[in-house]
Amino acid sequence: MTLPPKPVPRRRRVPLWRHLRAFRRDILSAQPAHLYAAKMAEFRTPFFRSFLLNEPELVAEVLKARPGDFPKSDRVTEGLRPLLGDAVFVTNGAAWARQRRIIDPAFETARLAATLPAMRAAAEAAVARLAPGEVEIEAWASHATADVIFRTLFSVPIEHRLAAAVYDAFRAYQRSQPILNLGAFLPLPRWVPRLHRRRTLRAAGEIRAALVDLVAARRDAIAGGTAPDDLATRIMTAVDPETGQGFGAEEMVDQVAIFFLAGHETSAAALAWALYLLATHPGAQEEVAAEGRAFLADPGARLSVLPRTRDVFRETLRLYPPVPMMVRQAARAERFRGRRVPRGSQVVISPWHLHRNPRLWRDPDGFDPSRWAGEGAPREAYLPFSAGPRVCPGAGFAMAEGALFLAHVTAAWRLLPATRAAPVPVAHLTVRSQDGIFLELSPRDRGADVT
Ligand code: HEM
Repeated sequence: MTLPPKPVPRRRRVPLWRHLRAFRRDILSAQPAHLYAAKMAEFRTPFFRSFLLNEPELVAEVLKARPGDFPKSDRVTEGLRPLLGDAVFVTNGAAWARQRRIIDPAFETARLAATLPAMRAAAEAAVARLAPGEVEIEAWASHATADVIFRTLFSVPIEHRLAAAVYDAFRAYQRSQPILNLGAFLPLPRWVPRLHRRRTLRAAGEIRAALVDLVAARRDAIAGGTAPDDLATRIMTAVDPETGQGFGAEEMVDQVAIFFLAGHETSAAALAWALYLLATHPGAQEEVAAEGRAFLADPGARLSVLPRTRDVFRETLRLYPPVPMMVRQAARAERFRGRRVPRGSQVVISPWHLHRNPRLWRDPDGFDPSRWAGEGAPREAYLPFSAGPRVCPGAGFAMAEGALFLAHVTAAWRLLPATRAAPVPVAHLTVRSQDGIFLELSPRDRGADVT
């Protein structure tokens, strides 16, 4: 069985300028092969010191510490500020804690069940948009998961005027932001000019203008008692239990912007890779399709009837974690593995490396969903949604969405890889394929038992 695609790592020793240039192109292939098995690595440049942690105990020490000990650095998030303002993703300290107290209840498991009908409607619409023949599945997945966000957050499909405006502006933003990606992982000194800045600012402004309209319309509906019971209404009417205060209008736009960015890019990346893995593993595909048919046949079915499908999605998030690396800053001097970590150092946690660490995982580069069925998987080395206080609040939402979409797609379509070169993973804002992911689709005969 051929292994799922993995970027070719760089040679062991290269001069700093070559490393930085490779880094700028793609942070995954810029790293040397031996990093996968390292417990920790230190990078020294004239501008910053950076420590990559690659063993579960050390990673937990950082992620589970008090948030003030390893905050997100302003420099790391600076590129996202024009779009996200003071959204929960970029804030720290008391402001961040308050935002989580307001947001988290909307994503509790019991509440999530209420979003399933909207997710199912989005999955049905997305499956109906597929056609036989060759399909570039990443673009399809981005559109589909943006639709999920609009339907679950604002009860409108992506065809709605304001939703379409956000989606179009967002695509323009993505085209203008590659330098943000570099800015996010390489803390450039302040004097380095930020290229593309004007274009990025304009695109961010357009997205926010459309979000302002969506939020304002919802405020009116809440005031008039006509608002649907969706995520936006729940978050906009929630108050912080400690202060009794909710989000103001501008703050709500910030939060909607991060739900849209964090919630659709990541899910789209995972969904596209999962479909590619199913296309290249027909046995797993048939199992998922059989679960999907049973699920769709029963309108009251719960997601718990999709255990294999969920394991396929889990395994996809291991091999292609949409957020490949997370960056924190040491608020004070620390010691890691006996080495001095000066105050202000960058601390990098890399799900990409941890998930493929050969000291922790059997067959680290292989696709094996069955590893999740028993006790075999080292769950402490699995961090697609991060961990600790800043864990992704959308993790349950994303797992439900992933399983649901895989069930809907495979129940209706048989997938094969297109006759092209295998996709090459690269890290843009999320882990994507360099030139798209092409699949060959043929309709399944719904009546026939093909397992
Ligand atoms: C497969 C899909 C997803 C993956 C892999 C994912 C992964 C992550 C990760 C790793 C983080 C931590 C980032 C860091 O600390 O630097 C994060 C944070 C976040 N995610 Fe997700 N996410 C997904 C889907 C979603 C969805 C669907 C939503 C909301 C609808 C969401 C909302 C957020 C928010 C608001 C944060 C910031 C939390 C904080 O800083 O306190 N994510 N996500």
